[in-house]
Amino acid sequence: MSEAPSTPAAADAAGAVPRVLSGIQPTADSFHLGNYLGALRQWVSMQDTHDAYYCVVDLHAITIEHDPATLRRRTKVAVAQLLAMGLDPDRATVFVQSQVPEHAELAWVLSCLTGFGEAGRMTQFKDKSSKQGTGGTTVGLFTYPILQAADILLYSPEPGEGEGRALRVPVGEDQRQHLELTRTLAQRFNHRFGETFVLPEAHIPPGAAKITDLQEPDAKMSKSASSPQGIIDVLEEPGPMRKKIMRAVTDTGSEVVYDEEKKAGVTNLLRIYSALEGTSVADLERRYEGAGYGQFKKDLAQLVLDTFTPIRERTLKLLDDEARLDRVLAHGAGRASEVAARTMDVVRDRVGFVGRGS
Ligand code: TYM
Repeated sequence: MSEAPSTPAAADAAGAVPRVLSGIQPTADSFHLGNYLGALRQWVSMQDTHDAYYCVVDLHAITIEHDPATLRRRTKVAVAQLLAMGLDPDRATVFVQSQVPEHAELAWVLSCLTGFGEAGRMTQFKDKSSKQGTGGTTVGLFTYPILQAADILLYSPEPGEGEGRALRVPVGEDQRQHLELTRTLAQRFNHRFGETFVLPEAHIPPGAAKITDLQEPDAKMSKSASSPQGIIDVLEEPGPMRKKIMRAVTDTGSEVVYDEEKKAGVTNLLRIYSALEGTSVADLERRYEGAGYGQFKKDLAQLVLDTFTPIRERTLKLLDDEARLDRVLAHGAGRASEVAARTMDVVRDRVGFVGRGS
């Protein structure tokens, strides 16, 4: 592992390399197909064109009740999957959020700029807290989006880092509102304390931004809400994976056509197929004209298996070498800390905290 990141291939018009930052929670034993198509695939491709920072957000994972040993294991499994998908620790900074304490520190400052009502309007909070009831809902869940804003803004490129400095955040559709809040908080901070943060841009993939549950095609595929039959795990064994796709809810009729309202199930499968193969939905509709759902699902199952089997095998191998994973994380935390520490120095000064040396 080299010390310095190699220079990303593409710089923007002003000569600055745009930066990318994103995060994923270690709250399940495997990532799922929605995570992969909505976000992780973009993480991998963007490491070649951006100065990339990707974190496993374990601080976010404790906003719901958790078991310490499970969290530790899932964090390692998460990192192994990211590497197995193609993240290269020489090209991208891969790290664990709790190893860079500035995330929590900036979250505190930003929480003091966030209105109570503003945080209460976050739809993910409203959904989760209404399911859990007030007794089961923590203050941490309420302030979750503010910690996410801190994750992002800590990696805001400095003014000296190029005129066209950009900060892109690859995420699925469900994160749009959190990104809007992040932009609002960045603007508010800049307005109150002077130009500090760039406004981050959500990078939401057209077509695969909301993969839905295979059994409830109107609901998002989600580790917390989907039944095991509705969710495809990246680390799933081939047999069950194939079965789940063959049993995915389709609709009455037999035509493979895209229709969000009348054929939500087939439409979801078409989106998955199109994103995985890189073929347009129109071409797929033509290919399967008159073929029926069976053949379509069989081919899709094969495509999903071909995509995830090598990732599963590489993940299992990586998990056999924990010392290597720990080295990757130590290296990533070191690199992330350099940027985070610089940002926090500026933030502390602007907010009016007395510096240690002054
Ligand atoms: P998490 O772990 O819930 O989701 C990780 C990523 O997967 C995307 N995603 C989906 N995309 C398409 N279809 C789906 N069914 C689907 N389900 C999940 C999510 O949009 C996300 O991009 N709050 C973040 C974690 C986070 C973060 C950050 C993200 C914390 N700090 C800073 C970006 C930047 C989340 O939802 O993670």
